[in-house]
Amino acid sequence: MSQSQTGIKGQSFISVADLSDQDVTEIFKRASHFKILNKKNRPFTEALDIDTTQSLRSFLLFEEPSTRTRISFEIASRQLGIHPIVISNIKNSSMMKGETVEQTLSTLACFNPAFIVLRYKLSIAPSEKLTFPIVNAGFGSYEHPTQALLDAFTIHEQKGKLKGQKILIVGDVLHSRVSNSNLKLLKRLGAEVAFCSPSSLFPQGDLWKGVKEYKNLNEGVEWADVLMCLRIQQERHNMNIGLSIAEYRDYYHLGAKQLEIFNKKGIIMHPGPYVFGVEIGHEVLKDSRNCILSQVENGVYVRAALLSIILDLKWKG
Ligand code: NCD
Repeated sequence: MSQSQTGIKGQSFISVADLSDQDVTEIFKRASHFKILNKKNRPFTEALDIDTTQSLRSFLLFEEPSTRTRISFEIASRQLGIHPIVISNIKNSSMMKGETVEQTLSTLACFNPAFIVLRYKLSIAPSEKLTFPIVNAGFGSYEHPTQALLDAFTIHEQKGKLKGQKILIVGDVLHSRVSNSNLKLLKRLGAEVAFCSPSSLFPQGDLWKGVKEYKNLNEGVEWADVLMCLRIQQERHNMNIGLSIAEYRDYYHLGAKQLEIFNKKGIIMHPGPYVFGVEIGHEVLKDSRNCILSQVENGVYVRAALLSIILDLKWKG
């Protein structure tokens, strides 16, 4: 089912819905190839017909904290031969003097970027009309589409296919941009998605209407092929969720019991950062089904693939 006929070539990437079916296929193909090149210590540029990116620059503007997303976009840009300028310490920018993100984007436009990667506090796209593509690196609780792409890529890599995979999303679904983007992309790619979360953190809105809910974590774990755990997004609700951390842990923590009943060929995912003792236990990290670090690594390949398509860099393979 195609969402966007035009796709992301030369365009902003705000939502999973911006991707054409061809974009998704092309991103996975390029990311797989970048991974092979990386294992051989070869530059990603070997697969691209380019000599023009050297003079290009990009800005990575992060209004909220980030480790994985920011660093992987930085490496991905460099791998494509683009010079990324990171603005992640907002305290040292004019935003501390009252400049808005929109004004900052207009200012950065004067430096002629090839694209800007933006992590934004608000759950909407910036209203400013811009002359360059914006790549969503997480907008409030709205979407985090590159996380969904790297998650789907990781599931495909581990399980050989997405069609028919049963994916259980556990935790703070309501405030998670990761879960919104994942639901859209995974359903589109033929996976079945269900969730398990406290009623105070139930997803709202049409997107989640009809999505299967497991009230009991263990029942969901028994059903699933893929467990996708989420951090409680405390910064978005001050833990005002009607239950204490201890109560949350009693019902939504992935620990030894769940590992025991979970599909032996299943995989465990988390976008990170994870909080030990809350959503997952230490035993998860030692479990062979844990793919959390593969997700981090795949973020570089998938983001490089995405950027190479936005920039219309020709593929040599
Ligand atoms: C996620 C995010 O920022 O939405 N992290 C990430 O990008 N890997 C998840 C989170 O912060 O809980």
